[in-house]
Amino acid sequence: MKKMMLSVAVATASVVISQNALAETWRMALGDAQGGTQYAMGQKFAELINEKTDGQVRVDLFPNGQLGDEQSTVNDAGMGLLDLSVLAINNITPFSPTVGVLTLPYVITGSEDAKVLTQGEIGEQLKENTIRDAGVRILSWAYSGCRVLSNSRKPVASPADLRGLTIRVPRNEIMIASYQEWGVNPLPMAWSETFTALQQGVVDGQDNPYITINAMRFYEVQDYITDICYVFSLEPLIMSESKFQSLSSDMQEIVLEAGREATAYSYDYLLDSEESIKQALVEEHGMQIIQPVDDEREWIERASSIWPRFYDSIGGEERLQEALSVLGRDLN
Ligand code: MLT
Repeated sequence: MKKMMLSVAVATASVVISQNALAETWRMALGDAQGGTQYAMGQKFAELINEKTDGQVRVDLFPNGQLGDEQSTVNDAGMGLLDLSVLAINNITPFSPTVGVLTLPYVITGSEDAKVLTQGEIGEQLKENTIRDAGVRILSWAYSGCRVLSNSRKPVASPADLRGLTIRVPRNEIMIASYQEWGVNPLPMAWSETFTALQQGVVDGQDNPYITINAMRFYEVQDYITDICYVFSLEPLIMSESKFQSLSSDMQEIVLEAGREATAYSYDYLLDSEESIKQALVEEHGMQIIQPVDDEREWIERASSIWPRFYDSIGGEERLQEALSVLGRDLN
C-alpha cells in the first residue's frame, strides 16, 4: 500500500514538473510609458496569449524603454535576444527601408488611411520585407494617431516660425528631410532620451501624437502644439522571427490570431480615446493647440517635395503610387 502511494505521489509530481516545463514567459519591450496606445495594445496581446494558451504562456511588459531604446530592440529581437517589442514604425525604417512608405509625410492622413494600408495587401508585403530585412515579424499594429509638433518656446503656425527652435526627431532620414524642407536642421535622438532633453532644454520641441504626448507627460515640459499631422504614428508589435519559428504550428496560429485581435482592439482604442486626451491636454494641462489653417498648404507642399528622394529606399516610385491608389489618390 505504502509503495502504491509513493508511486502515485511520484506520478503526480512528474505531471506538475512537465506542466511547469511547458509554462513560458515572454518579454515585451515598449518604448513608451504606460497609459498610451503601445501599452494598451501590448497588454491586450498579453491577455489574449494567456487566455488562448490556458495560462501556459505569460507575456511580461517592460514599458518606458526599460529594455533599451526602440531601435536597439529591433536589433535585439532580430538576433533572438528579445521576444517582443512595441515601437514606432519610424524606428523600424532604418532596418527595413521599404516600411518608409508608411512614414512619408502626408501619405497617411488619418486613422482610416492607416487601417486600409496596414490591414491590406501593402501591410502584408511590408511584413514579409521586415522579416527578410530585420529578422522580426510584425504581429499587430497599434494606431496612435497623427504626429503633431510640440514645443516649449512659442506658438508655431508656419514653417518660418520654426526658425531658432531645436527640434528632436527620431533617427529617421525621412523625418529629418521633412524638417530640413521646413527650414530647420532637427536633432536626431533616441526616443528614450527625449523627455530629459526636453526637460533640460537641450531641445525645444519634438513631434508625436496626442496620445503619446499625454502618456509621456510631455505637457510637463511643453506648452504649444501645432496640429500639422504630417505622419501617422503606427506602432507595430514585432516578434523575433527566430522565436516565432521555434514555436509549434498551433502556437504560431495562436500568436497570429492574438496579433490580429490586438490590432482591432488598438484601432478602437484610438477612436475612443484621442479626442478626450486632446481635450485634457488643453483643459487639464494648459497646452495651447495651434491649427495652422492658413499655412497648411505650405507645411504639406514643402514636406511632400521630399518623396522622390526616397523612391529607391521604399522600393520604387510605384510603391508610393500603389499606396496612394489604395487610398483613392494619385501621385500627381
Ligand atoms: C519616436 O518619436 O521615436 C517614436 O515615435 C516614439 C514612440 O514610439 O512613441
